Amino acid sequence: MLLLNRADIEKVFTTRDAIDAVKTAFKMTEDGKIVSPLRTVIEGKYDGAFLFMPAYAPELDAASLKVIDIFPHNIDNGLMTSPAQVMLIDGATGYVVAMMDGTFVTQLRTGASSGAAFDLLAKKDCRKGALIGTGGQAETQLASMLESRSLEEVSVYDINADRCAAFCAKMREKLASYGADIQPAESADACIEDADLIITVTASREPVFDGTKVKEGATISCVGTYQPDRREMDPAILPRAAKIICDSKEAALSETGDLLIPIADGIITEDDVLGSLGDVINGTLPGRESDDEIIVYETVGIAAQDLVTAKAIYDKAVEKGIGIVWE
Ligand SMILES: NC(=O)c1ccc[n+]([C@@H]2O[C@H](COP(=O)([O-])OP(=O)(O)OC[C@H]3O[C@@H](n4cnc5c(N)ncnc54)[C@H](O)[C@@H]3O)[C@@H](O)[C@H]2O)c1
Repeated sequence: MLLLNRADIEKVFTTRDAIDAVKTAFKMTEDGKIVSPLRTVIEGKYDGAFLFMPAYAPELDAASLKVIDIFPHNIDNGLMTSPAQVMLIDGATGYVVAMMDGTFVTQLRTGASSGAAFDLLAKKDCRKGALIGTGGQAETQLASMLESRSLEEVSVYDINADRCAAFCAKMREKLASYGADIQPAESADACIEDADLIITVTASREPVFDGTKVKEGATISCVGTYQPDRREMDPAILPRAAKIICDSKEAALSETGDLLIPIADGIITEDDVLGSLGDVINGTLPGRESDDEIIVYETVGIAAQDLVTAKAIYDKAVEKGIGIVWE
């Protein structure tokens, strides 16, 4: 079995690799080529939850199980809020062939979900990005945004101003090659003002931006909410959106209050949620049709992303002789 930590993965796998893997995962899902039951969630003490996410792709001869635990108060103690491991299994023998840092795999594939959506749904010419939330998922979100479109500036907001400032300073250095000016914003309104690309990746239970202030032509990726009773998206954006598209319509409509609460309130219907990003990739659902359209992308994360990403990481690690072999 190959053991791969974050540093190992960083040596062999880029943001673009992750975006490509996630597009493959979404396409294979819509083509019915990945078996992945909806995840099992066990609520725990301390506001925590244990998530078990299995997937199997016969075409790749690979299966995986990700165990990811969401403990929102960890951040206050300097701990990760979503510790995880991914187990990769050889689909021909059933042997476990790799165990890898699932926290980083999650960050990569979750950022790549936004990157894939921006690749496929955003206007060609975008100038400003906005990122709301600067926790554990934020770095790969920002990297994927910058990988997808060439931006002049990214405005960043978090209710914790110190965390936001530290994040921006770190990202200015780490993502300098993209050439965007990354600056903290004083408010969510200032952050999204005039933004062409918006990502929300918070643990908030309430909307984190004002949907009436999103400009025409923007593409918004809502990443943070996976529970029916929580939401970070302002429902005011939904009637303004020309299209609402999900990573997986089935998963999003069973999990996220971003859509379930506005549906229950009669603001939109299930039919207004047009489909999945894999449908856009397959050409069965149109993507952006004009530069004026506001497009909302809702991503809750599916196990297929973990499987295809983990398999791609494993293949590259084996090819380059990276990682520790555990007999
Ligand atoms: N869609 C997916 O595939 C996917 C994958 C992993 C995690 N998530 C979810 O994404 C969310 C963020 O994950 P994380 O690991 O970065 O969390 P985290 O706890 O590390 O960080 C969350 C950040 O959000 C900020 N925040 C909270 N409320 C806010 C508000 N109203 N306005 C601005 N900022 C606010 C917090 O201050 C914190 O910095 C979590 O809810 C997690 O469950 C989604």
